[in-house]
Amino acid sequence: MLPRRRQARVGTPCAVSSVVRFPGVAIYLAEPRMGRSRRAFLTRLALSKGFCVLDAYSSEVTHVVMEQTSAEEAVRWQDSRPAPPPGCTRPALLDISWFTESMAAGQPVPVERRHCLQVAVPREVLPNPIWMPLYACQRPTPLTHHNTRLSEALEVLAEAAGFDGSEGRLLSFCRAASTLKALPCPVTALSQLQGLPHLGEHSCRVVQELLEHGVCEEVERVQRSERYQSMKLFTRIFGVGVRTADQWYREGLRTLDDVWTQVQRLTQQQKAGLQHYQDLSAPVQRPDAEALRQVVAEAVGRALPRATVTLAGGFRRGKLQGHDVDFLITHPEEGQEAGLLPRVMGYLEQQGLVLYQQHQRRPSGDPVHQAPKGRSMDTFERSFCIFRLPRPPRATEEGTPSPHPSWKAVRVDLVVTPISQFPFALLGWTGSKHFERELRRFSRKERGLWLNSHGLFDPEQETFFQAAAEEDVFKHLGLAYLPPEQRNA
Ligand code: UTP
Ligand code: MN
Repeated sequence: MLPRRRQARVGTPCAVSSVVRFPGVAIYLAEPRMGRSRRAFLTRLALSKGFCVLDAYSSEVTHVVMEQTSAEEAVRWQDSRPAPPPGCTRPALLDISWFTESMAAGQPVPVERRHCLQVAVPREVLPNPIWMPLYACQRPTPLTHHNTRLSEALEVLAEAAGFDGSEGRLLSFCRAASTLKALPCPVTALSQLQGLPHLGEHSCRVVQELLEHGVCEEVERVQRSERYQSMKLFTRIFGVGVRTADQWYREGLRTLDDVWTQVQRLTQQQKAGLQHYQDLSAPVQRPDAEALRQVVAEAVGRALPRATVTLAGGFRRGKLQGHDVDFLITHPEEGQEAGLLPRVMGYLEQQGLVLYQQHQRRPSGDPVHQAPKGRSMDTFERSFCIFRLPRPPRATEEGTPSPHPSWKAVRVDLVVTPISQFPFALLGWTGSKHFERELRRFSRKERGLWLNSHGLFDPEQETFFQAAAEEDVFKHLGLAYLPPEQRNA
């Protein structure tokens, strides 16, 4: 029981709170499934971060936040409220994930589909215990799932482990997060995790805290830390990996301004990344990816008739946003693709679409033999680019105004593959990264086969498996086929 004085403060309208930092956002925490003390806790948390939380439901509410509530229940709840005055829209009905993400970010995060209760699938109760196969490539993982709040917290810890070079911890957290993504329902009690693969002691502790308090102290601490913030900032620069970022951090660099003072040390790629930082750190939207596909397809068609362009990466998995756009280029006749990329880039440059490009030639020798066992880096001919994408006239986007409103810089990868390797390249470049990692691990450990973006190799027989489509690869590995939308592990 809370002391009376504090209890009286709890849930008072935002007018009472000291500062309201986000005038366009007025939150109403709908109580039914939340419970009073939890609602009070969340209210205090939000007020302390400068959010406006309204105690009563009114036409001023912009964001209704609910917990453990199905879409149907949420809509029923809203229907039982007074209709908004004419000309006013109804507030968004949001899952608690929007709230916790906003608290973690210290500002309201954009509302995405996955936050909205209107589009959520009716939820069932999680059977206990639930059976789940060990590898992410053995089970479907949709883009939107029921445990975003939990998986994202674990992924913060995975990312932080990666920043510290702790590959083992990175993998453990990624695997735990991935298991939660594949669950058919939200986790509501720790006991539901029993028997699930990869949920170790540490991950369970994180989940428990999130279930009980809505926030996890460790995750909050990591996100607030100077180390995490600088590493995140630096690794977002095109061409900067963990090792470089770590070196800069140890030299005392913390901000982009600090990096600018070292500009003479940077590679051309990193310079370009720094120059276009603002644009490149904003997510690429699906319509941008589609616009780019058209210009690339046009250039490819001119350079070599019948050559094709395929969108891979996160957009192929159904994502609405990405950090870059990945394209695979091939030709139905083996060998015809040789020499194609420079011509394609030439066309694109002529049109003023290329801000930066770095061409990577294909090494001589047999790339399939060189690569399968080692690093996942493939050796296709490719171009790492920054494109200058014209903005449609209507685009007045929110956020910091761009220094050049008529266009924006977008990261694009163009990869050329011979048709014989295309199914493997497509499989490898569709991701997710964790899905790929799991698929390769499954191949090696369970089947004794080496998979990469060039092929599937049997080291005992010393033979390569021929595939005409991605489906063949799954089949050969004895796996049920998963379409790209189910590879969001
Ligand atoms: P991305 O890093 O582009 O990720 O790699 P994504 O899933 O598209 O997500 P965004 O772009 O952050 O939204 C896409 C796939 O391509 C593989 C990755 O392993 C991933 O599976 N890839 C990427 C390679 O095989 N080689 C590379 O050099 C880069
Ligand atoms: Mn991508």
